[in-house]
Amino acid sequence: MCGIVGYIGKSDAYPILIKGLKCLEYRGYDSAGVALIDKSGDLRIYKSVGKVADLERVSSGKNISGTAGIAHTRWATHGEPTERNAHPHRSSDGKLVMVHNGIIENYLSIKKKLSEEGYSFASDTDTEILVQFIEYIRNDRKLDLLTAVQVALKEVVGAYAIALIDKDNPGEIIVARKSSPLVVGIGEGEFFVASDTAPIVPYTNKVVFLKDGEIGVLSAGSPLKIINLDNVECPADIQNIEINLSEFEKGDYPHFMLKEIFEQPERLKDCMRGRLNLEEHTIRLSSIINHSDKLLNAGRFVIVACGTSWHAGLIGKHLIESFCRIPVEVEYASEFRYRNPVILPNDVVIAISQSGETADTLAAMELAKEKGAFVFGICNVVGSSIARATDSGIYIHVGSEVGVASTKAFTGQVAVLIMFALALAKEKKTIKDEEYTNITRELGLIPEKMYATLALNDSIAELSRMFTYARNFIYLGRGYSYPVALEGALKLKEISYIHAEGYPAAEMKHGPIALIDAEMPVVVIATKSDLYKKILSNIQEIKSRKGRIIAIVTEGDTEISKIADFCIEVPNTIDCLDALITSIPLQLMAYHIAVYRGMDVDQPRNLAKSVTVE
Ligand code: G6P
Repeated sequence: MCGIVGYIGKSDAYPILIKGLKCLEYRGYDSAGVALIDKSGDLRIYKSVGKVADLERVSSGKNISGTAGIAHTRWATHGEPTERNAHPHRSSDGKLVMVHNGIIENYLSIKKKLSEEGYSFASDTDTEILVQFIEYIRNDRKLDLLTAVQVALKEVVGAYAIALIDKDNPGEIIVARKSSPLVVGIGEGEFFVASDTAPIVPYTNKVVFLKDGEIGVLSAGSPLKIINLDNVECPADIQNIEINLSEFEKGDYPHFMLKEIFEQPERLKDCMRGRLNLEEHTIRLSSIINHSDKLLNAGRFVIVACGTSWHAGLIGKHLIESFCRIPVEVEYASEFRYRNPVILPNDVVIAISQSGETADTLAAMELAKEKGAFVFGICNVVGSSIARATDSGIYIHVGSEVGVASTKAFTGQVAVLIMFALALAKEKKTIKDEEYTNITRELGLIPEKMYATLALNDSIAELSRMFTYARNFIYLGRGYSYPVALEGALKLKEISYIHAEGYPAAEMKHGPIALIDAEMPVVVIATKSDLYKKILSNIQEIKSRKGRIIAIVTEGDTEISKIADFCIEVPNTIDCLDALITSIPLQLMAYHIAVYRGMDVDQPRNLAKSVTVE
């Protein structure tokens, strides 16, 4: 995780860096820091524990001049979130200053070597080891800085995105990456660098996504130089990007999370635009058309993902198996990558990731590629590492998601998986025309049904108030609703810090039912489906043990409403589309409970939106 940002040019660096850090706070917010340098080499570093706003307080009234600088917002890995561990870190001779995102796995062996050379350390971080190591190599071997960086990085094991400034050469920033993202923005006589494009787009839409093993030399007024660790110059692949800046503003909403929940109907339309034909009730996905040989002949799909994306993957399994009759496995990317998994010749691996930067998902995908699999991506962030590394894929196109707890990306992922399964099934002729037409017609109605569900917000807020001080929650669902239960529980845990577990409802009897008493709220997704009667029995079982039932039911339900303590009635839809609707009340409940508890909804403790370390 961690966000890095840098600037070199004609303008004052400080406001650009602070604004950039605020865009990157979703990557971590344990501490923040900035280093500013002016043309004479006068260097100043300010750091603070906490958020970027705390850093602004620390630097307020101090000298913040300088037309070059680097800055960092941290998600602690090595070393506690203290000021001494906050970036930027400085080398012993005080000349080199670095910010870093990633993990230097062999930092202890490098540290040992440096200690033997008489180095001492001011922090517990792996980053400080790297900057000291570069200094050591530069001085010991009398090398220029770029060569010293190349030599040092060749010895590094792990992941890094770095930005480095040198007091002796204030007109230059050196940046490099391996397995952690880094984007260079090219302005008029100025450069920007950041972990993603958000800090850059207010100034320029010309960007270069650095590739693994590339080093960028940013000198104001000179063209961008990209060189690899073997000193071979690499062409700069300059891309034009377009981002709607309003996505980074909360507008009238108190939190990004609430804004993103409420955006879902419109974002779903964006996701389906050009893919779902509302007049003909057909789905057209160019990635399926262009790779039909691989996809139609897939012997198995293996979905790799983490967190919320993994929950979407579970729904994907259900959809693809039901409609395409192709077996699907859903794997936690972090487990898959270390298990020497079996990849068969006709396997297709689907990597699902909102950010497209999750380290475990990226590594799982690369492993699958090495083993010969065709790799398909379902990502939100355009141009992200996963999106670029896949053989083909589908963007979910739900716009930037800023709140750490994923909401609109989940429904976007599910919508893409629905379209994928239906389009593939149609090509494979494993779905009846009538069923295909019914589902595609109904899919087109989902945005309106989402609006109707969002209209329940006030009553869900009222209901949530009653559970502000609950200590545990159980979420239950069956079939397509089981992953929704998992996702509902995850939302609550993430932002309210209430312990919550999601279960397939019938599994209750095998353990969790022992937890049920009058103190235990149980959220049950019990909309009309083939499993309705079964879930009704599960609800009876909970009721008999005095559990407090909050049921998500279909409008007009008469049976469950008689038993449940509270009912949230949502619009009726086909059960394979239900998750697009039923996840909304669960998102809203988690949100309101967290707000009543006074939690930091958009930046919950210990979490980061983009997990770029394993
Ligand atoms: C983090 C985020 C989650 C997200 C997960 C996977 O844990 O807080 O919201 O679901 O990473 O991220 P990805 O970007 O790969 O979907």
